[in-house]
Amino acid sequence: MTAPFGRRLCEVSENRASGGYRVFSLIDREGPEPEPGQFYMLAAEHGWEQWGGRAFLPRAISVAETGPAAGGVRLDFLVEGIGPGTDRLCALEVGEGVWVNGPLGNAFSAPREVSPGAAGAILVGGGIGVAPLALLRRRFGERNVPVRVLLGFRDETHSGGLDDLFACCEVRLASEDGHSGHRGYVTDLLAAMLAGDDAASAVVYSCGPPAMLEAVRSLCAAHGVACELALESPMACGFGACFGCAVPKPDGGYLRLCVDGPVLRGDRIAEVAHA
Ligand SMILES: Cc1cc2nc3c(=O)[nH]c(=O)nc-3n(C[C@H](O)[C@H](O)[C@H](O)COP(=O)(O)OP(=O)(O)OC[C@H]3O[C@@H](n4cnc5c(N)ncnc54)[C@H](O)[C@@H]3O)c2cc1C
Ligand code: FES
Repeated sequence: MTAPFGRRLCEVSENRASGGYRVFSLIDREGPEPEPGQFYMLAAEHGWEQWGGRAFLPRAISVAETGPAAGGVRLDFLVEGIGPGTDRLCALEVGEGVWVNGPLGNAFSAPREVSPGAAGAILVGGGIGVAPLALLRRRFGERNVPVRVLLGFRDETHSGGLDDLFACCEVRLASEDGHSGHRGYVTDLLAAMLAGDDAASAVVYSCGPPAMLEAVRSLCAAHGVACELALESPMACGFGACFGCAVPKPDGGYLRLCVDGPVLRGDRIAEVAHA
């Protein structure tokens, strides 16, 4: 599905708290329905350059949910305010305009496209990285793909999406401070699951902080389980023009994460770079 060329103005129809994050919705009257894993470049129509006292580019945000709306498509975004761009998006009010370019990038694949014998999916999300997994979980559910969902958060203020985006499914939780579920990392839950016999034929889909993604990649490699990872990199344009999002390939050269990703197969990455 090709995104319409150039940016278009969409209206905010809702903005609500979701744990420590925000979920806001836009009505897109022109764009196609996005696929799970795809993202949009977003900038508020007003107060964008002034917010935080410095000018800045649009921000890349994954679509977390979508559905039909009167006159178009509803796009839901889960956002954590960590700087001027995301703080401004968190503060959007109903009726405001947002400049939108997208859907951009590639999407997660079906389990059998990743691994021919695969019978199900394990979704592993960390922090704000849970966003694209909400739409992925729903799409797999509609296609009768068995799905298990593992989500991890640092603490309660750095968590969200559970009471709305993931409300209708069973979620196994981990939290570093122990406020909910297993005390520790979500990758502890994945390690236990991959050690069991029934996980061998699953494909793992993951999005989260780089250190978590590297742990997921190496666990899957050690157990011979295929995985797809949604990576992040600072993005200026979002459509392949600026090379700001380049990441090295294991066999030399570079990938542009905005057009070759953001979803990459685990075996295309030597290691997810992390601090
Ligand atoms: C494909 C993609 C999908 C994303 N989806 C979401 C989403 O669904 N929800 C959400 O809240 N955020 C998402 N992000 C992250 C979001 O784009 C950044 O947090 C945002 O651009 C930060 O802008 P800012 O002005 O708020 O903060 P800034 O002041 O620009 O950044 C705050 C800090 O984060 C670092 N940083 C900024 N962007 C990135 C990045 N992309 N990778 C690594 N470090 C970064 C900066 O170096 C700085 O230390 C996504 C990013 C990408 C590339
Ligand atoms: S963000 Fe410009 S090339 Fe990827």
